[in-house]
Amino acid sequence: MTTTLPAPPTIRRLTYADLPQVIAIERRSYPTPWSLAMFVLELSKPSGVCLAATGEDGAIAGYTICSRYDTVWHIMNVSVSPDRRRERIATKMLTDLFVRVDEPDPRFTLEVRRSNQGAIDLYTSLGFRGAGLRRRYYQDNGEDAVIMWRTPATLRGTLDDIPNAVDPLRQAG
Ligand SMILES: CC(C)(COP(=O)(O)OP(=O)(O)OC[C@H]1O[C@@H](n2cnc3c(N)ncnc32)[C@H](O)[C@@H]1OP(=O)(O)O)[C@@H](O)C(=O)NCCC(=O)NCCS
Repeated sequence: MTTTLPAPPTIRRLTYADLPQVIAIERRSYPTPWSLAMFVLELSKPSGVCLAATGEDGAIAGYTICSRYDTVWHIMNVSVSPDRRRERIATKMLTDLFVRVDEPDPRFTLEVRRSNQGAIDLYTSLGFRGAGLRRRYYQDNGEDAVIMWRTPATLRGTLDDIPNAVDPLRQAG
């Protein structure tokens, strides 16, 4: 028996023309989805890196939004279409993002719901580590956000270059 593996996605810059498909995935992915205006704002920032993953048919399978604030890159949205998950599409998009951010020793941060273990495992596999908590960060259910960082120190397995870092994931056991 032969198994047909899905073709690896193509990663390219996200464009305004992609936004109707992005909004459709966004609405299936989050209890409080981003609005169209939020995507338009992020795409308009010249320093940001916004990427799309597309399938063989050119349809959007996933997207990521990353904005630079001062010296830190904030990953603000990572989403994959529900019918394309666990195909390493998010892994490929984020790996591509790290290459496109062409500067020495870039620092990335993001927030993730404490209950979103799948996403936490994804980020951990890419060198992120938990470094703090934002209590009751998500307004829809009052859930805490885990703050994760990917820095030269986290890639060495420590939190030494993150001020006041305490790993909430390790504390929770
Ligand atoms: C989280 C999300 C982006 C992951 O995308 P994906 O393309 O399915 O992730 P990948 O296939 O690259 O996963 C890589 C690894 O991360 C971990 N992982 C990802 N999703 C997981 C899940 N649902 N459950 C458990 N582990 C998961 C696994 O270790 C996986 O490797 P494996 O498949 O070999 O076990 C996707 O599930 C999604 O869009 N979820 C809804 C939106 C969301 O929660 N975004 C993150 C907000 S911070």
